[in-house]
Amino acid sequence: MKKTKVLGTGLSGLVGSRVIKLLEDEFEFVNLDLKNGVDIIDEDKVYQVFQDHPEAVAVLHLAAMTDVSRAYQENGDKNGLVYRVNVLGTKNIVQAAAHFKKYLFHVSTDFVFDGTKRTPYTEADTPHPIEWYGQTKLWAEEVVKKEYDNYFIGRLAFPINADEPAGRQDFLHKVLSWLRRDEERSLFRDTIVTPTFIDDVAQVIKLAINQQITGLYHMTGSTYISPYNFARRLAKVFGFRDSLIKPGSFKAYLQIDPRPRQQYLAINNQELEETLDFKMSNLDTALSMIHWQMGGL
Ligand SMILES: NC(=O)c1ccc[n+]([C@@H]2O[C@H](COP(=O)([O-])OP(=O)(O)OC[C@H]3O[C@@H](n4cnc5c(N)ncnc54)[C@H](OP(=O)(O)O)[C@@H]3O)[C@@H](O)[C@H]2O)c1
Repeated sequence: MKKTKVLGTGLSGLVGSRVIKLLEDEFEFVNLDLKNGVDIIDEDKVYQVFQDHPEAVAVLHLAAMTDVSRAYQENGDKNGLVYRVNVLGTKNIVQAAAHFKKYLFHVSTDFVFDGTKRTPYTEADTPHPIEWYGQTKLWAEEVVKKEYDNYFIGRLAFPINADEPAGRQDFLHKVLSWLRRDEERSLFRDTIVTPTFIDDVAQVIKLAINQQITGLYHMTGSTYISPYNFARRLAKVFGFRDSLIKPGSFKAYLQIDPRPRQQYLAINNQELEETLDFKMSNLDTALSMIHWQMGGL
């Protein structure tokens, strides 16, 4: 069977590398990345690749400058790389998608929210970013909505998976590396994250592209948890001592390093699950799967 051709950005990243591994039987991906000579900031280059692949039906846009610390250094700088990649790069992708009439799957983030809400955020909540990365990602969403209508925006949060691509470690692998070295670490007990199994994200991408589903959705897991409790659960599933993980205080940390940080990022996925008729894994299921996929290591 002939595979559906999909143009993709950010496919070498943490999320993209896992997604293409899982979907390579379904889709033929054309990789728009720096190694292949495509900088998404370069409008002409982006246009050229779209022109070279008229049979592609969709574009999967994952590329971004995701380094929140770098973004903090570049705060307010519209000549900086974070703004140029996240906003101008997205604009180039969206305009090319609109011009060549390709379905656009755009990946965004829970960092568009300020993290002050004690109950889970839904798509109806008004975004309010508190740092530069989240701000540029929100502007990217706005560019998508303004320039085109055949789009899916999937807000992702706290991605976890079994792989560890070079230089792109997820939080799960970071904690595992401490546990393997028998290191004690403290993690916040007073913040909330929504861990998301990247393998589910791959299925969402497949369903959305195949059915050309449009709109803005929270593409997140089904468990809200503190990083402290996340790490302790991870330790248990992988057979390490959970007592190595100590409770830390976000409030106390902010006194030492008063950078803007989101505290409560519980992200509700109900709209996505209902629209796609697909269940996003809870944390226990995701951790068991990842443990098994890693050969019980
Ligand atoms: N990781 C998270 O915690 C998280 C959470 C929520 C949402 N997200 C979103 O999910 C998406 C994927 O994130 P990720 O963690 O997989 O990112 P990542 O590991 O940092 O990878 C970023 C990707 O973007 C590419 N890229 C950067 N600048 C580029 C440019 N100018 N032109 C072309 N490609 C460029 C990189 O290519 P090179 O390899 O060549 O540098 C890489 O493939 C992003 O949109 C991010 O905002 C991530």
